[in-house]
Amino acid sequence: MIYIILCLILCGVVFYKSTIYKRHRRSLWNKHVAITGGSSGIGKAFAILAAKEGAHVTLLARNVDRLEEARNEIKQNTVTQDQIISKVPVDVSCPEAVENNLLEIEETIGPVYMLVNCAGFAVCGKLEDLSERDIKALVDVNLMGTIYAIRAVLPKFKKRREGIIVMTSSAVGLMGMFGYSVYSACKFALRGLAESLVMELKPYNVTVTLALPPDTDTPGFENENKSKPKETKLMSESGGLYKPEVVAKQLLEDALKGNFFSYVGLESFILTTLCVGMTSVNSVLELLLQICLLGPLRLIGTYYIKNFEKIVAKCFSENHVQEK
Ligand SMILES: NC(=O)c1ccc[n+]([C@@H]2O[C@H](COP(=O)([O-])OP(=O)(O)OC[C@H]3O[C@@H](n4cnc5c(N)ncnc54)[C@H](OP(=O)(O)O)[C@@H]3O)[C@@H](O)[C@H]2O)c1
Ligand SMILES: *[C@@H]1O[C@H](CO)[C@@H](O)[C@H](O)[C@H]1NC(C)=O
Ligand SMILES: *[C@@H]1O[C@H](CO)[C@@H](O)[C@H](O)[C@H]1NC(C)=O
Repeated sequence: MIYIILCLILCGVVFYKSTIYKRHRRSLWNKHVAITGGSSGIGKAFAILAAKEGAHVTLLARNVDRLEEARNEIKQNTVTQDQIISKVPVDVSCPEAVENNLLEIEETIGPVYMLVNCAGFAVCGKLEDLSERDIKALVDVNLMGTIYAIRAVLPKFKKRREGIIVMTSSAVGLMGMFGYSVYSACKFALRGLAESLVMELKPYNVTVTLALPPDTDTPGFENENKSKPKETKLMSESGGLYKPEVVAKQLLEDALKGNFFSYVGLESFILTTLCVGMTSVNSVLELLLQICLLGPLRLIGTYYIKNFEKIVAKCFSENHVQEK
């Protein structure tokens, strides 16, 4: 039985990678790519890849110095003299600022073809330990910031009948996890937003890709690490730490091909397949694979969940002993 399950999973991975991804890959040559959170981590890695594809790149983030530093780094990765790499200091949680700044930059560089939403951050901790200020900021940046940026470009995408929207969710946008409460809620919300937009935008030739990065070695992750409860750290250990370049590379490929989910690694494959839900079907083969894999993967998922529960119980009793 176990053997059959393993075989199915192996076949799944091989098939999945080799056949589904043969969809037509669009080009970024001479196109305008706007990236919120493009001055650091996954967003910056994505910006570098876009520059290598011949795109004009606009970085949107708050800190001016980090923007300038990132812009210089991205400039070194351009492939032609004509590529324009620009920076826009803006807080994505302010809708007017996002809209006006994007308008302005479109006048000089041309219409945005691809919008990549990478601005975001995590604060961990048990729900009662989060400050009201942190809770509000998490929702304002991760969820509202993404909505505002998309709204600023959407009518133009629809008018031109082309465009690519990328949103950055997370593995905890598919499953809840100890210590992520509000962050997880925001990332779950992005999935609902993405699924709805896929339906709204399909007739307009605009695609939507939802990134589900695993733990990725970025300044943001280092910061998140500071607020992470012991339980969360123990649970994350099984997943490993990925490089932002690897996550961004996969994201670029998926976005250019119009794939809905973008993920890297076996664990994310398992999670994404388990949580496929009511997303639209890419191909008959993919559908067949999901039909075969969903049952067995529920079993594997149960193994993970049981382990997580054990971690929570262990930490709980340790804390209890300390309290006594
Ligand atoms: N790293 C991971 O393990 C991981 C895993 C899953 C999902 N993600 C998601 O991936 C995305 C990128 O994460 P990362 O790890 O690359 O983070 P990062 O290194 O901290 O980069 C975050 C970027 O977003 C910008 N930003 C933050 N708040 C902003 C605001 N209010 N307005 C405009 N820009 C803002 C930052 O610049 P300023 O601070 O200067 O504004 C920076 O450029 C986030 O949405 C994160 O939730 C990350
Ligand atoms: C859809 O958009 C792509 C570019 O993203 C373009 O090459 C293609 O011609 C468009 N198709 C239609 C039917 O407008
Ligand atoms: C996160 O913090 C732990 C200590 O709690 C440390 O061992 C680990 O190296 C840190 N990881 C990162 C990526 O900063």
